Amino acid sequence: ESEQRHRSIFESTGVSIWEQDFSGAKAVIDELKAQGVRDFRQYFAAHWDVVRRLDRLVRVLDVNEETVKMFRAKSKADLLASLDKLRTPETRATFVDLLVNIAEGWTSREGEITLQDLEGRQLTALFTITFPPTAKGFERLLITMIDVTQRKHAEQRAAQAHAELAHVTRVTMLGEMTASIAHEVNQPLAAIVADANASLNWLAAAPPDLESVRGALDAIVRDGHRAGEVIQRIRQLASKGAPRKDAVDLNDVVRDVVPLVRAELRHQEISLMLDLASKLPPVLGDRIQLQQVLLNLVMNAVEAMGTVTGRPRRLIIRSEPDDDDHVSVAVQDTGIGIAANHLDHVFSAFFTTKPGGMGMGLSISRSIIEAHGGRLWTTPNRPHGAVFHFALPVAKGPYPTKVG
Ligand SMILES: Nc1ncnc2c1ncn2[C@@H]1O[C@H](COP(=O)(O)OP(=O)(O)OP(=O)(O)O)[C@@H](O)[C@H]1O
Ligand SMILES: [Mg+2]
Repeated sequence: ESEQRHRSIFESTGVSIWEQDFSGAKAVIDELKAQGVRDFRQYFAAHWDVVRRLDRLVRVLDVNEETVKMFRAKSKADLLASLDKLRTPETRATFVDLLVNIAEGWTSREGEITLQDLEGRQLTALFTITFPPTAKGFERLLITMIDVTQRKHAEQRAAQAHAELAHVTRVTMLGEMTASIAHEVNQPLAAIVADANASLNWLAAAPPDLESVRGALDAIVRDGHRAGEVIQRIRQLASKGAPRKDAVDLNDVVRDVVPLVRAELRHQEISLMLDLASKLPPVLGDRIQLQQVLLNLVMNAVEAMGTVTGRPRRLIIRSEPDDDDHVSVAVQDTGIGIAANHLDHVFSAFFTTKPGGMGMGLSISRSIIEAHGGRLWTTPNRPHGAVFHFALPVAKGPYPTKVG
């Protein structure tokens, strides 16, 4: 009777259930262990023949109706006859994982697996598997699966929408900064023209003053690079690419952003102080997005100081190791500060106190920081102004590095 009840639950439940015989595989694994194999992950990576053999040893005994539906098979028999078609290149990696779990004596495992239905559509499923305490139970392992393909797609669409929003606001912000950026490019260009004119005169003199020309040419090269770098940074910020995960030094992010705002700071008579830790461990993330966050915070600080009179307008950007596994950056201003009743809202989308503000800066910044596994928050500055902080987890190497 209990077997009967078991069967009816097996058939009627809304999750896919698989009964599989892992006893043959378990026996081989135990034998390998007896022979002294310890690091099974490494062993399987080096012995694909063994993995293939174990694969053939595992047998599917039964599946329930939900499984037939999930894989778009005509019937249970149809599905059981076409198991090979369900695999994708990632399926084997998951299988190897499971073998390692068994070898290491795990009691249960859950995870995501990518499969294919019989109509060739890719399918992402959440699976759970419980390993019995004794070898005996491996003859009939139960694996349950829930189709999360739709949710996965929704997550991907949300991530994509987020990246696009970040891009749009970035470009908007660059648009607003055009005047100040143009100034930052114009200045070296003007210096180049002046130096070149002077050089023409030095060359026309008799005898030509080559020493001065050489000095001027050095300055021209320097200024040309300076202008080029600003343009390069803007192009990067305006570009649209998939979010990256590189080892990023937050001090570099600060140095990337400063040239873009320098003219604006000068124009508003704001003094800038950089207080950067001499050596910061890298974080893992997207350098452009982190530049965007910092630019947002700095522009907010500049705007908060726009109406301030009778006290110094001072911007401090500070970086420091936060604790063992975080680094933090703080942007501190002496502006109007945040009213107590606004504190809960400044990070909300579309909250703004500025005429012409969009109210997206902090909301986007927070989601970027959180997508990097970090935190973004604000504290009051004494006696005036606000401080915005973000902390990001330190990258655990080895990590990919990006040059340039
Ligand atoms: N440094 C700061 N000092 C005081 N108030 C601030 C500061 N930074 C942000 N705020 C407050 O938080 C609000 C939201 O900031 P947020 O950057 O999200 O939008 P915004 O600057 O108004 O518009 P935009 O989308 O153009 O950035 C601001 O309107 C302002 O009231
Ligand atoms: Mg803003």
